[in-house]
Amino acid sequence: MSNQDHDYVLGTHDAEIERLAFQHSIWQEEVHRAWHAAGIGVGAKVADLGAGPGFATVDLARLVGPTGEVYAIERSRRFLEALATAARNAGHDWIKPIEADLMAAALPVRDLDAAWCRWVACFVPDPRHLVRSAAAAIRPGGRFILHEYHAYSTYSLLPHSAEIGSFVEAVYESWRAQGGEPDIARALPQILVEEGFELVSARPISFAARPKERLWRWPAGFVRTNVPRLVELGLRDQAWGERVLRALDSAEQQPASIFVTPTVLELIAVRRG
Ligand SMILES: C[S@@+](CC[C@H](N)C(=O)[O-])C[C@H]1O[C@@H](n2cnc3c(N)ncnc32)[C@H](O)[C@@H]1O
Repeated sequence: MSNQDHDYVLGTHDAEIERLAFQHSIWQEEVHRAWHAAGIGVGAKVADLGAGPGFATVDLARLVGPTGEVYAIERSRRFLEALATAARNAGHDWIKPIEADLMAAALPVRDLDAAWCRWVACFVPDPRHLVRSAAAAIRPGGRFILHEYHAYSTYSLLPHSAEIGSFVEAVYESWRAQGGEPDIARALPQILVEEGFELVSARPISFAARPKERLWRWPAGFVRTNVPRLVELGLRDQAWGERVLRALDSAEQQPASIFVTPTVLELIAVRRG
């Protein structure tokens, strides 16, 4: 495992890969809507910035087809290996996995028609650098599409659960302790405009899930996989983790329970000429 794998706040283990796969399946429709709104189509040259194990990458590749190009930029070797396997299994050899740090001097791609970036700006120490690098890699008139949280504290369990509230607080702490900012989308519109983009559209997205619905597994699953990670990182103790998981188990048995998911802000911007 590389240092980058070790340092990533959510980890790169199999359970995290499975969680990202399920998360993508929940978000797939919204993602396609965003790509469609941004005009990504057959033959486009695009990049997935911070692609993870590549669930969106494979969908992007299907959209642009073999006459297009998809550069998957990711620093975790473990995620890149999973991504390369997924690309091979799908037969999409126009996916190019690239091991690179988004905080490095420049992106190793140029003249992109579009770049896609989801749940990445919230983890990097310098989101302005990420936007500036994307601006240099996207051709004038090309699009930058982001899905990032702007109000992570909307992640909540109803009726109000203090334990889940304390979990959300611990997540804020853990991302910030590693230089990230969960609510980064609050700053992104200004940064985009200052770094050479014009905003095309903005749309908040949130879901509400009940215990028997498939969607429930997304917010509930993150609590289950991230509680042990927060304990492992030394931010909370085992007893706290047990209390949070007990509260979740109990909410799952209550027909009135509703999980509200943290609000994502979709931003579509065009590179100024
Ligand atoms: C929550 S995951 C999201 C993955 C993918 N974008 C998705 O939507 O499924 C965040 C990803 O950002 C990557 N990442 C974080 N900081 C990075 C950096 N400085 N350079 C490259 N990748 C980075 C992580 O390794 C991880 O794969």
